[in-house]
Amino acid sequence: MFDEGTGSVLSMRTHYCSELRNDHVGEQVTLCGWIDRRRDHGGVIFLDVRDRSGIVQIVSDPERTPAAYPQAEALRSEYVVCVQGTVSRRPDDSLNPRLPTGEIEIYADQIQLLNAVHQQLPFQVSTADVEPVKEELRLKYRYLDLRRDRMQQNLLLRHRLVQTIRRYLEDQQGFVEIETPILTRSTPEGARDYLVPSRANPGEWFALPQSPQIFKQLLMVSGFDRYYQIARCFRDEDLRADRQPEFTQLDMEMSFMSQAEIMQLNEDLICHILKTLKGIELPAPFPQMTYTEAMERYGTDRPDTRFGLELVNVSDLVQESGFKVFASAIAQGGQVKVLPIPNGNANISNVRIKPGGDLFSEASAGGAKGLAYIRVKEDGAIDTIGAIKDNLSPEQTAELLQRTGALPGYLLLFGAGPTEIVNASLSRLRLALAAEMNLINPDQIDLLWITEFPLFEWNADEKRLEALHHPFTAPYPEDADHLKTARAQAYDLVYNGLEIGGGSLRIYDADLQAQVFAAIGLSETETQAKFGFLLNAFNYGAPPHGGIAYGIDRLTMLLRGEDSIRDTIAFPKTQQARCLLTQAPSSVEPKQLQELQIKSTAEPKP
Ligand code: AMO
Repeated sequence: MFDEGTGSVLSMRTHYCSELRNDHVGEQVTLCGWIDRRRDHGGVIFLDVRDRSGIVQIVSDPERTPAAYPQAEALRSEYVVCVQGTVSRRPDDSLNPRLPTGEIEIYADQIQLLNAVHQQLPFQVSTADVEPVKEELRLKYRYLDLRRDRMQQNLLLRHRLVQTIRRYLEDQQGFVEIETPILTRSTPEGARDYLVPSRANPGEWFALPQSPQIFKQLLMVSGFDRYYQIARCFRDEDLRADRQPEFTQLDMEMSFMSQAEIMQLNEDLICHILKTLKGIELPAPFPQMTYTEAMERYGTDRPDTRFGLELVNVSDLVQESGFKVFASAIAQGGQVKVLPIPNGNANISNVRIKPGGDLFSEASAGGAKGLAYIRVKEDGAIDTIGAIKDNLSPEQTAELLQRTGALPGYLLLFGAGPTEIVNASLSRLRLALAAEMNLINPDQIDLLWITEFPLFEWNADEKRLEALHHPFTAPYPEDADHLKTARAQAYDLVYNGLEIGGGSLRIYDADLQAQVFAAIGLSETETQAKFGFLLNAFNYGAPPHGGIAYGIDRLTMLLRGEDSIRDTIAFPKTQQARCLLTQAPSSVEPKQLQELQIKSTAEPKP
């Protein structure tokens, strides 16, 4: 089976390990894979052999199959082998219901060592699913990490996700996949660009695409009508568990469709994905909520609606109160909102709410400077620190309790200040407390469209408006004469509190597009230099169009119940945007920089 002379495997593999069942008993099979574990049971050696399908047990018995025994003795974890043997039914007392192959085992007639492990393993692959290994080590030896069942399942599901998408969009919806450039110019999605110097054009730079946005719109102008792409996108932004500097989108664009039609097609797609990959029938149509309502009730535009704990706006109620913190927050254009927590009295101590406490820290991570509270005692009276109680009249107190639905035992946490900070801090607290109070059913899937986003938001640092999605998003026609406060014809799809996709109808009129560029502070010259080609294209018969893009990494994460998209990407970057396996990014030869006519001003690394 193995030619020692040429080192090639002569007899081909007949099965994947995990395919074998009772039906195969008596068959001669040849398997190839890695030794997951080797156990010596008083002379008889058991080997778990693993390939991408799973595991099967190989038995080497010096009496029954003596030829293979010396090889079996020499094998260790992660050695690569080719095993030839006969499938047997396991004795009744050694069936393993946890393995799909648990009713059978293979008596090895021959075991060929194809390759050994020549250095100490940095971690045991066979136990890494249950005995967590530090992520740095996993990423440095990613090829070993990816041998683990959990990681194999993650990548195989990712593959099936993309396969399902392609089949559905191409075969059932008439989409065509078209590739767009990676070396391009800046596509504004709100992050920093990754830049690539052009050797042929010294001093000039390509930007890697933050998304294929502009090209897919140009493809609509070209008449392709229904485009999609599994597209790699690059964004130099601060990383989190659900963000990577390069990530993959399902990117789609359609012509001649209304917002409702685009959303319908996308609901059908998402339902098809969940049905195909998880056997889950999602209730349709998906609920929709406006941006304003989401911000008001949940403090975020991607609410997790699997549990309540909704925020209650009490600004009007407390604005006249003598409590300075509340009154001045409102006088300065901000808000006062409450997060009512059932049984919060018993479960949440004052220490946790005061400076230094974990809930205080959570609120301050959202920008809050303090966290006022009221406790509703068992007799219905209220208890607070500081000045709130003294500054609320009995009528105001009664109204507060009524509006927040507070009953005896409730804790009311207050956010007071600029609206963004109130929302950010209370929505963080809402999520943290829901997890702590076990309010989230992990098996529930809530999909929710958020609509009617503002077209622009105020960038306080740069003191200018910026597009909330991107500057190609169309305003509602009835809002076009007051662009600065217009609502956008945009829609985000939220899955259990995570934004999995976002899109919009696009502007396809050159004049309106120029007005939007002007509103975000681009001069006419800048607009021409950066986007003249797009405005030009709109003058040659651009159809009405719209689209959406989904994060494939995020979708895989949710479908697999993972907490980080790093576990759904074969070779991801760390939070510091580094690849620990290849040690990228790295310095380059001075000659390469000379050719590019580039000089680095960075301090050399010690
Ligand atoms: P947007 O910027 O909302 O829209 O991106 C679409 C989806 O891509 C995913 N995503 C990310 N995933 C991992 N790491 C990141 N850094 C990252 N950034 C975004 C999210 C998000 O919902 N051109 C528009 C789409 C359109 O208008 O058609 C766009 O890129 O799941």
